[in-house]
Amino acid sequence: MALSQMTILEILKYPDPRLKQESDVVEVFDDVLREFVISLEETMRAGPGGVGIAAPQVAYLQRIVIVDVSARKNTPNNGCMVLINPELIEWDGLKSGREGCMSVPDFTGNVVRAERITLTARDINGEACEFSCEGYEARAVQHEIDHLNGLLFLDRLVSRRNDLFKRKKYK
Ligand code: NI
Repeated sequence: MALSQMTILEILKYPDPRLKQESDVVEVFDDVLREFVISLEETMRAGPGGVGIAAPQVAYLQRIVIVDVSARKNTPNNGCMVLINPELIEWDGLKSGREGCMSVPDFTGNVVRAERITLTARDINGEACEFSCEGYEARAVQHEIDHLNGLLFLDRLVSRRNDLFKRKKYK
């Protein structure tokens, strides 16, 4: 079997209306899905600050996210998580923290998220899996799941005046 060609996909940018749509549940776990997930991960890693990505950011409106914060220092993590049809089942603690998004390249914002979460999902083979996350990883997962529901961090700011920050360059 030939190795699949890696593809960097185009990231939709705010205010593209597709970012506001709700994504569909994945029902078929096949080679098409596997190829897509490879490209999605490549796209995440090619992007600035690429610790997470959601399929709707590349105009594929299916409930698929990837989160990998393992390259950050002193950050508890589960490695690279491919989460299909993810659902939060437990959460506690609330904390405000700064977020960015490849679909909102010119801004960062302060968003309140749960500090600890437990989620269920399917893996790439359709097997049920469960993860517990805390801190920065929990924040990244919540940010990416929001994308599946048509929400951006911009929709979560308490105050645009106080919690939204222009940035010159994505780092
Ligand atoms: Ni994002």
